[in-house]
Amino acid sequence: MDHLLLTGATGLLGRYLMKDLLTSGKKLAVLVRPSRKFDAETRVEAAMRVWDDLLGYEIPRPVVLTGDINKPDLGMSSNDIKWTAENCRSIIHNAASLSFVSTGRDSEPWRSNVDGTSNVLEFCQQAGINEFFHVSTAYVAGLRQGRIYETELNEGQEFGNPYEESKVMAEEMVRGSSFIDSLTVFRPAIILGDSQTGLTFTYHNFYAVLQLSLTIGHSMAERHFSGKINATDFRLNATGSERKNFVPVDWVSEAMSEIVNDSSLHDQTYHLTPRVPITTRLLKDVMEEVVGSYGVGIASSTQKVSERTEFEEVFFKHMEVYESYWKDDPEFDSSNTQNAVPHLPCPHVDRDMLIRMSAAAMEKGFNWRDPKVKKADLAPVQV
Ligand SMILES: NC(=O)c1ccc[n+]([C@@H]2O[C@H](COP(=O)([O-])OP(=O)(O)OC[C@H]3O[C@@H](n4cnc5c(N)ncnc54)[C@H](OP(=O)(O)O)[C@@H]3O)[C@@H](O)[C@H]2O)c1
Repeated sequence: MDHLLLTGATGLLGRYLMKDLLTSGKKLAVLVRPSRKFDAETRVEAAMRVWDDLLGYEIPRPVVLTGDINKPDLGMSSNDIKWTAENCRSIIHNAASLSFVSTGRDSEPWRSNVDGTSNVLEFCQQAGINEFFHVSTAYVAGLRQGRIYETELNEGQEFGNPYEESKVMAEEMVRGSSFIDSLTVFRPAIILGDSQTGLTFTYHNFYAVLQLSLTIGHSMAERHFSGKINATDFRLNATGSERKNFVPVDWVSEAMSEIVNDSSLHDQTYHLTPRVPITTRLLKDVMEEVVGSYGVGIASSTQKVSERTEFEEVFFKHMEVYESYWKDDPEFDSSNTQNAVPHLPCPHVDRDMLIRMSAAAMEKGFNWRDPKVKKADLAPVQV
């Protein structure tokens, strides 16, 4: 009766949560779908071996349940459904699609974030899982400005992309589920890699912008005598003073794990957001340093496409998906988080940390590869 069920265990945050919760002594069951090449057990074992290698000792394994939140009964076998109903009373619903673009209501991110959450809720109700930890996002605030409180959700705001809107719908469905006895909602800001090592398993967002900047930067032929790339022809749609809220994944996971492990902290909503946001000027400076360019300018967002240079055209075309990226973020009030885990202040994402994260991503070629695990090496599942 004492396993915590986790969805999204193979993703960036999920892998950290697996490590932190299992090393804290929590018994964990993870719902994982097979990939094209590997079954769920092999995927989880490969993820766990990364932690064994980094920590230098073997950490306990979770119970692996094969499933897919987009399927009825989460696509689980009848044995696994029975096991879950007998052994799990709580869930961290963390799985989601992070797609910022959508081809329609039947596709991502709606499918996993709205329909998938609906399937998860139905499953939990039937399995008697009444304690719910829901991973939302600070960007349910959409295009709101000003100070955003942890108590607020749907204020009639507009959205920067379908992802934000789908996460509001998901959070509303969870909040509207009367079978849930205890609901704790986590709303992280933009999650980057590890604050110490730069380790990351996915390369969205900051990393996607960095990778594109590197590709374009290196195709800009004109080099200054200093060896740097002359990028004076290049202007961003930003003034430089826009604020962005980045948080390192190790902090998000550590704060969440502490809250999950302390029942006096449940039944709240937590903005997992930084105390001090960074500016788009700092982002631009970091990108320039990493790319080895100089002279990137700033332009108003009203600049007409026809006025753009060739490199700007390429950059903005590929950046369409992150259209809202350079806009000013609102200010996220994180009083609940600060009161709950005062000893765990969010590490400040500064220039050095961003450079460290960039270097770690470049070293992997923006492509994480798990160690190979042979099916024959897998230990029998202990249920
Ligand atoms: N990353 C951010 O900047 C950020 C910021 C705020 C909030 N969040 C929220 O934090 C949570 C975790 O995000 P993340 O960055 O760790 O994302 P991620 O790395 O993309 O991982 C997403 C996870 O969800 C799983 N998943 C997606 N669809 C599924 C399905 N149909 N059935 C089973 N599993 C499915 C994925 O499994 P596969 O490996 O099989 O694809 C993966 O394990 C999400 O709820 C996200 O909305 C993220």
